[in-house]
Formats: sequence, structure tokens, C-alpha cells
Amino acid sequence: MFTLFFFIFSLNAQTLKLEAMPLVEELKVSLMGNLKKELAHGSVHAIEFCQLNAQTLTQAKAKKYHIQRTSHRLRNPKNSAPELKSYLDKFAGTQKGALPMDVPVMFKDKEGKENWIAPIYTDVMCLQCHGEHIAKETQAALKVKYPQDQAIGFKKGEFRGFFWIKEK
Ligand code: HEC
Repeated sequence: MFTLFFFIFSLNAQTLKLEAMPLVEELKVSLMGNLKKELAHGSVHAIEFCQLNAQTLTQAKAKKYHIQRTSHRLRNPKNSAPELKSYLDKFAGTQKGALPMDVPVMFKDKEGKENWIAPIYTDVMCLQCHGEHIAKETQAALKVKYPQDQAIGFKKGEFRGFFWIKEK
């Protein structure tokens, strides 16, 4: 019985790895590519482009996965994930490489669903909109769209949030 349970557990984890992780890779690449391209026209212009590619998200949904980004300091409250609070608390304020578990983590939630989280750290590019010195006009544009913005004041290499995949 235990063996069977264990087998099913690892099968689900395996499927998630094979089906959903490549989608996250795709999201990362398109996100970084788009941001870089659009930042060439200035950070105010690029504000719309720190978003996950809608097409890939639809693909994930079809495969019965929920994919999103979240943070301990949210810009868009819609990105909140109270389920991950304990992980967010652990990572908050840390620098890349500081935690031994500074790698993607898999866990099973209360409903027995498979979850996968991978930490996101800031690089220089991110600081234009999430850093300590944000241009005045960018600040103003962010304030209009995100009046509850908490996602400023980050340092280079600081933990910014998670990519999160959850089996539905
Ligand atoms: C041009 C401005 C801009 C840049 C540069 C930028 N972001 Fe964002 N970021 C935003 C905006 C706007 C949102 C809110 C998106 C939304 O409405 O979901 C956001 C949201 C996020 C979120 C989702 C959680 C939340 O707070 O709502 C994460 C994680 C994130 N950014 C990480 C990064 C990282 C890492 C980089 C660098 C690779 C980066 N951002 C660069 C503007 C930017």
C-alpha cells in the first residue's frame, strides 16, 4: 500500500516536472526578452511588459496547471498567494545564494496536490521599476496603476518572489 502511494506521488511530481516546468521556462524567456526590448524605449513605456505571457498561461490551464508569480511585497494584489506565506516569510529579504534551499522546491499541499515554487531574484534591469531609485515619471505611472504598490526598494540580487505551479 505504502509503495503504491509513493509510486503515485512520484508519478504526479514527475508529470508536473515534464509538463509544467518547460512552460515556466518559456514564460521566463519571453518575460525577460519582452522587458529588455521594451525598456529600450524607457521604463514608463515598459510598465505593461512585466506580465506573464497570456498564451502560455492558457496552455498551462489546458494541461490542468495553475501558474503565477507572487511576492511578499506585491505590486498587483491580484498576484497574492496566501498559501505560500511560510515560504515567502523564509525568503523575504534574502540575497541570491544565501539560503540552502535556494533552488526550486516541490511540496504537496493539504489537498494532496503537487506544488512547485522557484525563487525569483532581481537583477539590475528590474531595479528601474522595483529598486530604491526609480525615475520620477516611472514612479508616477506606477502609482496610477498600482495605488497599493509595495514592490519598490529592492536591492540587486534580492529575493523578489516566486514562480509557482500548482496541479489543479
Ligand atoms: C518597466 C517596469 C518593470 C520592470 C523593469 C520590471 N518589473 Fe516586475 N512588475 C512591474 C509591474 C507593472 C508589475 C505588476 C504586473 C501585474 O499587474 O501583474 C510587476 C510585477 C512583478 C512581479 C509579480 C508580483 C507582484 O509584485 O505583483 C514580479 C515577481 C516581478 N515583477 C519581478 C520582476 C523582476 C525579477 C524583474 C527584472 C527581471 C522585473 N520585475 C522588472 C514592472 C516592472
